[in-house]
Amino acid sequence: MIPIWLDCDPGHDDAVAILLAAKLPAFNLLGISTVFGNAPLEKTTVNAMAVLKAIGQDSEIKVYPGAERIQSRGGGGDGGSHDQSNQSHSPSSCSRGHYETAPSTFAPSIHGESGLDGTSLLPEITCTIEPHVDSTLVAMANAIRNNPGTCLVATGSLTNVSALFDRFPDVKNLVETVSIMGGGFGMGNWTPYAEFNIWCDAESASQVLGDPIVAAKVVLCPLNVTHTAIATEEVLSQIKSVGGNVSQMFFELMTFFKETYESEFGFKDGPPVHDPLSVAVLLNGIVTKERRVTVDVTVGGEQRGMLTEQVGGHLTVVEEVDLNKFWALVVTCLEACK
Ligand code: BDR
Ligand code: CA
Repeated sequence: MIPIWLDCDPGHDDAVAILLAAKLPAFNLLGISTVFGNAPLEKTTVNAMAVLKAIGQDSEIKVYPGAERIQSRGGGGDGGSHDQSNQSHSPSSCSRGHYETAPSTFAPSIHGESGLDGTSLLPEITCTIEPHVDSTLVAMANAIRNNPGTCLVATGSLTNVSALFDRFPDVKNLVETVSIMGGGFGMGNWTPYAEFNIWCDAESASQVLGDPIVAAKVVLCPLNVTHTAIATEEVLSQIKSVGGNVSQMFFELMTFFKETYESEFGFKDGPPVHDPLSVAVLLNGIVTKERRVTVDVTVGGEQRGMLTEQVGGHLTVVEEVDLNKFWALVVTCLEACK
């Protein structure tokens, strides 16, 4: 079994990432950490717990709340001082270039106010969420230290991941792979230049992707490949036809995601289900094409969050995946929940 740690901001596609990470027999899911992003931290944490409960894994897998906001690194712009106003995404006005003035950003127009709107089948979570970033980082580091070959999967902003490597540099050498959903080459979804996860914390993304030790372990799934993983009508009907509460819940979640992607981005064939690709690519036979590069992240200005690549590095960018195998994994996991 491959030991993995999932850092996420559920989020509809994050929920599918949790499903694969928790249910595929190839993986030993050591823990889940959450980060602000699609919704404020409290909501992404509750959502992660609710998904685990829905799929019957809540007693085995613990959820650790991580960063509520980007961390101050001094100098130009302190994300920690920004308010948490709920800025909705309007793709027609891609004008969030100024880090210094941008509020912490969530994505209610894509994922709803809860971060996981569209179903009444998610179990209720009643506990209070208190962010304990440092104990979350300790839990991540210990999981990696105690489980040789651990793969760290990140499907939200890289705030927790960057903080982990800052706080515990030994972990950089111990982690096997850092599988990241983020960025786009020549494309964006939050601004014309930037993908949401990287834009949210371009500073952390720059630290992670620019660290030579870490970069050599990064497997990056950018929008260029995640936009091929579309939950088409055929995929939705496969999900629904599994039957049972969990399949119905994911069908409803994906239907909501389809509707917001259509209204916000004009996607007609279905939504791109980005995040679970970063879990699936850890398995043999899923990636069919990749390249090795060095990646630079633009941090400030209008092009904040833009990725620039140079040939000849050690960071792996996934270019193509076997989509039939990928969707078969999703169906297998839903069947395992019946
Ligand atoms: C990424 O942004 C989030 O809204 C999704 O969950 C995914 O991680 C896609 O840009
Ligand atoms: Ca996500």
